[in-house]
Amino acid sequence: MDRIRLTERQSRKYVSGLFQHMGCSPAQAEIIADHLTCAEMRGLASHGLSRIPFYIRKLRNGGYNPTPNFSVLKETLSTALVDADDGIGLVSGSFAMQMCIEKARSTGCAAVSVTHANHIGYLGYYSMMAAREDMIGLTICNAGASTAVWGTTQPVLGTDPLAIAVPTMDRPMLVFDAATSVVAQGKVAVAQIEGRPIPGHWAFDQHGQPTTDASEALRGSMRPFGDYKGSGLAIMIALITAGLGDVAFDMEEDNLRRILDDSAGSDLADLFVAIDISAFVDADRFKRRADQLIDRIKAFAPAPGFEEILMPGEIEHRKYQAAQAEGFTIDDKLRTLLERVNSSEGFSYDTNAWPIDGQQI
Ligand SMILES: NC(=O)c1ccc[n+]([C@@H]2O[C@H](COP(=O)([O-])OP(=O)(O)OC[C@H]3O[C@@H](n4cnc5c(N)ncnc54)[C@H](O)[C@@H]3O)[C@@H](O)[C@H]2O)c1
Repeated sequence: MDRIRLTERQSRKYVSGLFQHMGCSPAQAEIIADHLTCAEMRGLASHGLSRIPFYIRKLRNGGYNPTPNFSVLKETLSTALVDADDGIGLVSGSFAMQMCIEKARSTGCAAVSVTHANHIGYLGYYSMMAAREDMIGLTICNAGASTAVWGTTQPVLGTDPLAIAVPTMDRPMLVFDAATSVVAQGKVAVAQIEGRPIPGHWAFDQHGQPTTDASEALRGSMRPFGDYKGSGLAIMIALITAGLGDVAFDMEEDNLRRILDDSAGSDLADLFVAIDISAFVDADRFKRRADQLIDRIKAFAPAPGFEEILMPGEIEHRKYQAAQAEGFTIDDKLRTLLERVNSSEGFSYDTNAWPIDGQQI
């Protein structure tokens, strides 16, 4: 099957234009375009353009609010509870992490919880915002039930992910950004779009059996990473996010209904934390030590079968750098889905202008 090549500029222009066409402000549309384009450039196709049909369906049917009014429901110097007003999660997430960074600048450490939120895309995006400001960034969120907890194969919790980003001096910043399932469920959805099988250890079918069929896996459940450890972490994330945001838990009726209902907001919750390094130690010293730790780890001999030891976020950083020069590719089946979105929404943009990979950009 053909792959289609897009430049960063083409992707930004398309996404921004489409979301403005759907009623989002230019500023919001730019954030959405930045998020989805950076996801593709970092190799996170599960959280890039493949999300557009779902987001547009929710916008079209009233589930997502294109003109949200983010309000602060409760606030202290170092904390806030923000109501996302059913806005697009990529925008409310950026708003909340920015607020968190500003609070941490004066208090040393801040946490912002977001309630009535929608899907926030890839979490590294927000944690990296803090790391660029010489802070340690932490992001967690809940999601609709899709993942088994250790001891069952039923979908009990979401793939409730976490991302921690830490600044460095000369090395690429460290970004650990992972679902608490073996992989993000979006990777199964992308495999389904592309008609590919999935590895047998990613998911269970509806009967609790391991499956390589992406459609069966989407009807069944994801497997937690690290057995009871990933499962335990997911339970903590589910409780902290839904508890502080005071929304339904992942497996509760209200959560499941809202995710499937295009006319309803998903009512999820997120938590953003920023820790200002200079409140503890000189930030440059910390960053030099981060580089030293990376160098010391990388100096160890790789095990047989490994060419090198990779740091959290290193694969994504390399892909991002390559995409800056060469753009990135999407499957032709995704292009067809986007073309369908354009025509059903009356958005005039010809995705056929994107060249098949191998042709000149
Ligand atoms: N918004 C949501 O509800 C939601 C839910 C789940 C996941 N997600 C997002 O999905 C994305 C993908 O999640 P995932 O769990 O499939 O990620 P993944 O398994 O591809 O990577 C997880 C982490 O491991 C690192 N890594 C990967 N391969 C490595 C290797 N060979 N050596 C060393 N380190 C390595 C990566 O750099 C990353 O930090 C994340 O960005 C996450 O935020 C979002």
